[in-house]
Order: sequence, then structure tokens, then C-alpha cells
Amino acid sequence: MKHYLRLLQYLKLYKLRIAQAVVCMIVSAAANLYMPWIIKDMIDKVLAEKDMETLNLICIGVLVIFFVRGFFYFGQSYLIAFVGQSVVLDIRNALFAKFQRLPVSYFDRHQTGEVMSYLTNDVATVQNALADKIIDVVTEGAILIGSLVMMFLLDWQLALMTLITVPVVAVSMRVFGKMIKKSGSEIQSKLSDFTAMMQESISAERVVKAFGRERYEIDRYCEQNAKTFKASMQNVKLTSMLTPTIEFIAAAAATALIWFGGKEVVDGRITAGTLVAFLTYAVNMSNPLKRLSRAYAGIQQALAGAERVFSVLDMEEPIADKPGAIALPPTEGSVRIEDVSFSYTENVPALSHVSLSAEPGQMIAFVGPSGAGKSTIANLIPRFYDVDSGSIQIDGHDIRNVTIDSLRAQIGIVPQETMLFSASVRENIRYGRLDATDEEIEAAARDANAHEFIMALPEGYDTQIGERGLMLSGGQRQRIAIARAILKDPRILILDEATSALDTESEKIVQSALDRLMIGRTSFVIAHRLSTIFGANQIYVIEHGEIREHGTHEELLAAKGLYAELYALQFKKQLPDS
Ligand SMILES: Nc1ncnc2c1ncn2[C@@H]1O[C@H](COP(=O)(O)OP(=O)(O)O)[C@@H](O)[C@H]1O
Ligand SMILES: [Mg+2]
Repeated sequence: MKHYLRLLQYLKLYKLRIAQAVVCMIVSAAANLYMPWIIKDMIDKVLAEKDMETLNLICIGVLVIFFVRGFFYFGQSYLIAFVGQSVVLDIRNALFAKFQRLPVSYFDRHQTGEVMSYLTNDVATVQNALADKIIDVVTEGAILIGSLVMMFLLDWQLALMTLITVPVVAVSMRVFGKMIKKSGSEIQSKLSDFTAMMQESISAERVVKAFGRERYEIDRYCEQNAKTFKASMQNVKLTSMLTPTIEFIAAAAATALIWFGGKEVVDGRITAGTLVAFLTYAVNMSNPLKRLSRAYAGIQQALAGAERVFSVLDMEEPIADKPGAIALPPTEGSVRIEDVSFSYTENVPALSHVSLSAEPGQMIAFVGPSGAGKSTIANLIPRFYDVDSGSIQIDGHDIRNVTIDSLRAQIGIVPQETMLFSASVRENIRYGRLDATDEEIEAAARDANAHEFIMALPEGYDTQIGERGLMLSGGQRQRIAIARAILKDPRILILDEATSALDTESEKIVQSALDRLMIGRTSFVIAHRLSTIFGANQIYVIEHGEIREHGTHEELLAAKGLYAELYALQFKKQLPDS
């Protein structure tokens, strides 16, 4: 009920159209309800009294009624569908916007496919309920009530008898409704698993092929598919049982009516026309009842989808602007990390008591074994996660006190693997700054050592690149990432193993572009190969989430600690005795 009311809240924006739809609905329902009266006149006047004039009137009346009914039926369906679709559009937009605001940690814990399932499957069930089933509920409900009113007008005793069936129908709908909603949740969660599995398997297609695991993936897919099938069939079973159950109750009631009504005609208390008209209403009621019960089932299932959608919409946003957060003024680029501790999962510290500072324009390097916590430090600076204790300050502003947009606008990140969009090379570079001109894009590409290879592509800057930039080599993708960062022109730069995935040849080209990018910016460089950080102002050696030692290259070599060991390992040199 709570979720239903909340869904209805979305309708508020469309009051006018709903009012128009209601008018259409009343007219078309009224036209519908008038038909049995015509049949009554047909039997009692035309057939019994052989009245030709009434017959003519009746025929004209029938044509007019059907025309009016058709016209307003169109209006009603169109308007209600319009409202339903609009609401779905609003919900989908709100949901997508919500996903954009959710923190990185949400996406650590949820698969891409699962997120997509919310946006597709769950929204689709809501759509079905709002755009389709609501029409049924409203129109059939009106016809049902109208028929009842007419039946009371014709013969109140018979009408009362018909009403006895109502509680029976209501109770059975309630029982089925609960079961259908439960099975609806089951379907939605199976669909979500299914979409996640599918998405994962297809995006890992190269891995699948490399290991020859096609058969294995097909089996996994079929198994998931079968689970979804089972959940769906359970639901179909319930929905399909609901309609005949309701219909049987209705048929039993109709039989009773025929018996009592027939007896009244035989006793001469009502005319044959009245009974036929009454029965027509009674039979007419079975259609709305059937549709209503089906719509009811659909709505129950949709509520299961709506519940999931709302659970996402209601999710907390731990990383959001504080009330009264100011925009970070254009920064000089001084960064202080003060006694920062952080863990992704409780009781598993990823960083403990890390302190360091960077003066504007300095290059700070992090080295250490994989899993040490280097990327974690990099993740905390743009607030992908918030520190558990301690603080990070930029130009003296605690980054939790400034708006996220203004913070991230001043930080450029070049990750190990760059995600490119399926768009042209130009648009991919422009992602760094949406209002950049073509000239600026080209200049950035030149600085990133990318201009030449881009010009060699079939359509230059307008060449479309695939989803994961598969048409481009790793080095080319990194150079596009660098061009993006140059275009953004941030004061603070984070290079997280930007060249580690590259071969030595392209590493050189990319490194020279990176060197140019770093000039005049505060840079945090996580390096795989030590040769790229010899010139750093400070090198921090990280292990198990702690700073083990720090200093310049020379200082650290002289200290003969962990750094010196790493150095010896990479350059396969014995440390000179001293
Ligand atoms: N998103 C995450 N969720 C949970 N644990 C994570 C996540 N990212 C990294 N970790 C863990 O935190 C530790 C530090 O990781 P990371 O900073 O990525 O290491 P590095 O970049 O030095 O290789 C590792 O133990 C890693 O398993
Ligand atoms: Mg890392």
C-alpha cells in the first residue's frame, strides 16, 4: 500500500491529463452502460408491441452510441497511457540520476548487470502496471460500478443477490494477490541475477574464448535462464488460477440470478425485457471482473518491481555535499593528508595513519607491493571514498567541506586502463571539458603525443571507436586519456600506474606525454617501474596500508630499506657496498 501510494505521488504532475481522461472514461462507460436499456426497449416495445418507430430510433441510437463510445475510448486510453508512460519516464530518469550520485562503494558491491536490471526489468514491470493495468482498473472499475447501479435501478432485490458474491471475490483476490506479489519479487530478483550474469559473461567474452569456456558459459546461462523460467511459471500459475476462480464465482452467481429472475418473470413480477437487460449487465460484469483480477495481479507484481526501485531511490548517499558546502576556490595544488585511516570493509584496514603533504607543483610518488594501499590513497583524494579518520586538505580546505563537483573539477586522473565511450575520438577527448573547441582538442592531442596516430585513423578525429576502445592499442588509449586530462587542465593530477599495462615502446611515448602533463601540477604518481619516478620530490614506500619510508630517490637508496630492495630487484643490480 505504501509503495502504491508512492507510485501515485508521481501522478500529481499530470492532474490535467488525468482529469481529461476521467471525462472520456465517464462518457465511454456511460455509452457502454446504455446498451442493455436499448435491449430492454427492443424486447418490451418493439417485439412485444410491434412498434416500428422505436425500432428505427433504436438502430440510429446503437450507431451513435458506438461512435461516441469509440471516440471517447480512444481519448481515455491515449491519455491514461500518456500519463503512465510519463511517470515511468520520470521514475527511470530519477533512478538513473540516483545511480550517478551513488558512491563508488555501491558499484564495488553491485554488479553492472544488477544495476541495469533495475533500470530495465524493474522499471518495465512498473511501466506495465502504470501504463496498461491502470487503464483496466479505472475503466473496468467504472463499468463494474455503473452496471451495479443500473442493476439496482432495474430490480433491487436481484441486485442485492448479485452483491453477495462481492466479499467472496474480494477475499479470493486478496489471497491470490499476496502470493502473486511474493512470486513477483522472486521473478525480479532472478531477473536481476540473470541480467548480471549475462552482462558479465558477454563483457568477458575474450576471456571466455581464450579459455575455451563457451560450453561452460552456455550451461551457466541456461541454468540461470531456467531459474528465471521457473519463477515466472510460478507466477503465471497463480495469475492464471486467479481469473478462472473469479469467473467461477461469477458464474455461480449468474446461475442463481437466472433461476430467481426467471421465476419472477414466470410469476409476472417483472417483464422479460427487464430480466434480459439485468442479465446483460450481470454478464457484462464478468468481463470487467476478469480484467480487474488480471490487472490486480499485474499491479501486485509491479509493486514488487516498484519496491526494488524505491529501495534504490531511498539509498543513502554517504558521499554528498555537506549542507553549506562551499565551492573549492581555484587551487594552488597543495595537498595535505593528515593521519588518515581507511578500510573498505570493517576491521580490514586498507590504510592506517597515513600522513604526507605535497606542495604546489610537486611530484609525489607511491611505490610498494600490489595490494599495499597505493590506489586507495589515490581514491581518497577525489573523495571516491571518505576517510574513516584523519583528514585530507587541499589549500587548507578539508575536502569534506567543499562541493564534490568543485573538488573533482580540479583533479585529473589517468588510470591504468582507460574507459573510452563508443563515440568519435574527438568526443572522447572532449569528455575532459565539454565546451572545448576543436582546436583545443587538437592541441591537447598534440601535447599527449596522440595527434599523429589519430590523423592516421581512417576518419581522423571523427573515427568512431568501440565500446572499450578495442580498435585502439593500450598506448593509444592512454594517450587519449592524457589528452582528456590536458583538456581538463587540473591543478592536481593522479596517475595510477598509467603506463603499467603498456609495452616498453609505447610506454616511452606515453611517459613523455605524461611528463609534459605533470609540469606545473601537483602530481601523485603510482609507479610500477621505478625509473619513471626517480625525479619525484618525495617517494613514499607503502606496505600493508602504512608508510614504511619516504624521501627522495637518493635518500631512499642510501637508507638501504625497502625502496633500495625494490630498486635492486628491478634493475637486477647489486647495491654497491659502502
Ligand atoms: N573496492 C574495494 N573493496 C574492498 N577492498 C578493496 C577495494 N579496493 C582495494 N581493496 C583492498 O584494499 C587493499 C589495498 O588495495 P589498493 O589500494 O588497490 O592496493 P595497490 O593499489 O597498492 O595495489 C587491498 O588489500 C585490496 O584488496
Ligand atoms: Mg593499485
